[in-house]
Amino acid sequence: MYRNHTCGELNLSHTGLQVQLAGWIQRIRKLGGMTFIDIRDRYGITQLVVKEDSPAEVKKVAEGLGREFVLSVHGTVVERSSKNPKLPTGDIEIELSAIEILNTSEVPPFTLEEESDGGEELRARYRYLDLRRMPLQQAMRLRHTMAQEVRNYLSNCGFLEIETPFLIKSTPEGARDFVVPSRMHPGQFYALPQSPQTFKQLLMVGGFDKYFQIVRCFRDEDLRADRQPEFTQIDCEMSFVTQEDVLIQFEGLAHHLFAAVLNVDIPTPLPRLSYKKAMEQYGSDKPDTRFEMLLHDLTFLTRDTEFAVFRNAEYVGGLCVPGAASYTTRKQLDQLIEWVKRPQIGAAGLVHVRCTKTEEGVMGYKSSVDKFFDQQALSAWAELMGAGDGDLLLVMSGPREKTQEALGTLRLEMGDRLGLREPGTYAPLWVYDFPLLEWDEETERFYARHHPFTAPKPEDMEAFFSDDRHALMDVNANAYDFVINGTEVGGGSIRIHNPHIQERMFRVLGLTEEEVQTKFSFIIDAFRYGAPPHGGIAFGFDRWCALFGGSESIRDFIAFPKNNAGRDVMLDAPSGIDAAQKKELGL
Ligand code: AMO
Repeated sequence: MYRNHTCGELNLSHTGLQVQLAGWIQRIRKLGGMTFIDIRDRYGITQLVVKEDSPAEVKKVAEGLGREFVLSVHGTVVERSSKNPKLPTGDIEIELSAIEILNTSEVPPFTLEEESDGGEELRARYRYLDLRRMPLQQAMRLRHTMAQEVRNYLSNCGFLEIETPFLIKSTPEGARDFVVPSRMHPGQFYALPQSPQTFKQLLMVGGFDKYFQIVRCFRDEDLRADRQPEFTQIDCEMSFVTQEDVLIQFEGLAHHLFAAVLNVDIPTPLPRLSYKKAMEQYGSDKPDTRFEMLLHDLTFLTRDTEFAVFRNAEYVGGLCVPGAASYTTRKQLDQLIEWVKRPQIGAAGLVHVRCTKTEEGVMGYKSSVDKFFDQQALSAWAELMGAGDGDLLLVMSGPREKTQEALGTLRLEMGDRLGLREPGTYAPLWVYDFPLLEWDEETERFYARHHPFTAPKPEDMEAFFSDDRHALMDVNANAYDFVINGTEVGGGSIRIHNPHIQERMFRVLGLTEEEVQTKFSFIIDAFRYGAPPHGGIAFGFDRWCALFGGSESIRDFIAFPKNNAGRDVMLDAPSGIDAAQKKELGL
């Protein structure tokens, strides 16, 4: 036997008890004639003590110990003279009667404590060591709890967890595929699923009316803090449902997770915002609704002006930043202008207006466009934006969506600067009524905004079958995203279940009849055999974990993540393969 207690459970109530613990040495301190050893396992840390009157064998072994050695120790629980209120075990220590070294360790390349002194790259290379640290232990535990609660909730609602294959044919979700060469069919390739989208729809055709799966997805796309090339979805599908049924079902899941994992009660039904409203008010299809500071459309107020930038713009919009007029210096404003001009935001410029009351109590406006807009004009802006004494107006112009997005980014930045994006506060909502299609000027073709299996809204069906590009651009989808605090944590839609509409969709996306046949005949065929109406959603499981764990990065919640360049630096993958293997694979 190696242990009969964990390193996280002993306290004063165990005083006098003979115990056996096992774990890793986090720290060794020598003080006078005594040696203190912090021993760690995934449950916590317990202090061991070797005293002058400890058995000679124990003292001898203690001399040769080092960080991260693996021990099994015997001893007696005693009350500590200097207690550590930060640790649950901080009132006691174990006076050792025996130590067994189960394994030695080289000096670890970084400290394995709450905070580590190791850089990101180094810790990634030794991920198995980093995982020993408490924050990562807690992250994995959170992930486990989340998965359990997802399974509890959905199983109780009658969903079946069904696995779908990984070696498949491309499932378009808008990213590139990872492909796997086939040895038995030289020159041919499997694709790894970007999602189980087509399979879950085929399960609906197969009569499983409520499906879910906690499933790995693979996407070869540019990476960010909230994107990994392989990530996990809570993938769900239901038959005989309308959009309303799906939203109610899955806000139920969200409500359960918040309650069971965070003990937070999110009021349902959740707020809903159409895509159009989200763009108009927040400049984003994934708005952070923890704070207001909405966008205002000033276009009609800025039409008749000498200021050509505004006069010729499709859209002029602004934000009112509460209280910012007084403390924002000229230099800070200049920096803000440079900030919005960065390629990531891509704005041409930024107009600012300080709103302040004079000593007589009259509102006055000081703007960077005083030459073109008099006090009356500026006061009309201020009134529209609900600005008061001390507020700062920030105004941008340009093409509608692009400018709204730039203002949306600026809104988040100002929210950050003013501390309005409070951690530990959660603002979940549905965004719905997305456009079905997106026109790409460069390739001169339509892309599916969600994916090609998403149904057009019934009232837009005529436009969907028209050949007018603008009519097609206006077709809306029965598609919805689940958004929390500015992050898209889920997305889904009601699907096409009619083979003709599905075929039309592929043709709108520019596929030839042959391409539709070779790539997608399996699903179109399936729809010919009594496909039920169906719809569903997939949640980004890693993103939920990061959100619940209070972190920006999903990497902290994945045991073995890839870095920002898509590499596993621990394994050094991807890597080359030898010539024989290439030949065998027909490469
Ligand atoms: P979608 O592509 O919107 O929909 O993906 C669903 C959710 O998965 C998460 N997500 C990611 N998380 C981490 N890394 C990534 N690279 C990544 N990409 C997406 C997001 C996203 O909201 N089959 C459809 C779902 C459906 O229609 O039912 C799909 O995959 O949180």
